[in-house]
Amino acid sequence: MTPVRIAPSILSADFARLGEEVRAIDEAGADWIHVDVMDGHFVPNISFGPAVMKAIRPVTTKPFDVHLMIAPVDPYLEAFAEAGADCITVHVEAGPHIHRTVQRIKALGCRAGVVLCPGTPAKMLDYLLDTVDLVLVMSVNPGFGGQHFIPSQLKKIAAIRKMIDAGGRAIDLEVDGGIDPETARACIEAGADALVAGTAVFRGGPAAYAANIAALRGG
Ligand code: DX5
Ligand code: ZN
Repeated sequence: MTPVRIAPSILSADFARLGEEVRAIDEAGADWIHVDVMDGHFVPNISFGPAVMKAIRPVTTKPFDVHLMIAPVDPYLEAFAEAGADCITVHVEAGPHIHRTVQRIKALGCRAGVVLCPGTPAKMLDYLLDTVDLVLVMSVNPGFGGQHFIPSQLKKIAAIRKMIDAGGRAIDLEVDGGIDPETARACIEAGADALVAGTAVFRGGPAAYAANIAALRGG
């Protein structure tokens, strides 16, 4: 089984020192850098766009795990690929033709992921799983950091783990929202192999990042 990958969400970083924050989480052991892009339309909050992402790209060689909470999403895929995304993950509701969107991401040379919101069933993956590199299960409703983990999503994680294993192809299973050392353990037990965390990584400032990340891996 793949050792769990930790992807700190820079949504919880100090935006005035964003480059230094990315360097600090890199040095503290982050596997991926999770980039939350929000448009104030698909989700009720606005974060940042490709120009900000491009500015921090040279700071680290770690993969950029880009979570697009924008609709329509298709017109912006190229800008995020050019800004240095390694994996681009889109919500199944973010456009009229999710299968085409996934193909487009791959044609741009990126890994492709799809996201399921807490109210979206695992069934949505039936005709997508053969083509994606990553599935992201939201364990909060998207839009804000610092929310509480929704326990019903553990059942969905377990169901998707079975679907992935039955398919026999390597696909990352990532969980995002309300992840702390306790919920991290529950997600790993359910079959997750990548975890996003904002609040739980950035609390306590840079001196605490390495211990915070280690705690999410199980100490
Ligand atoms: C929510 C974002 C998450 C969020 C996680 O819409 O996709 O990545 O920043 O933050 P925490 O870990 O604080 O729940
Ligand atoms: Zn996210």
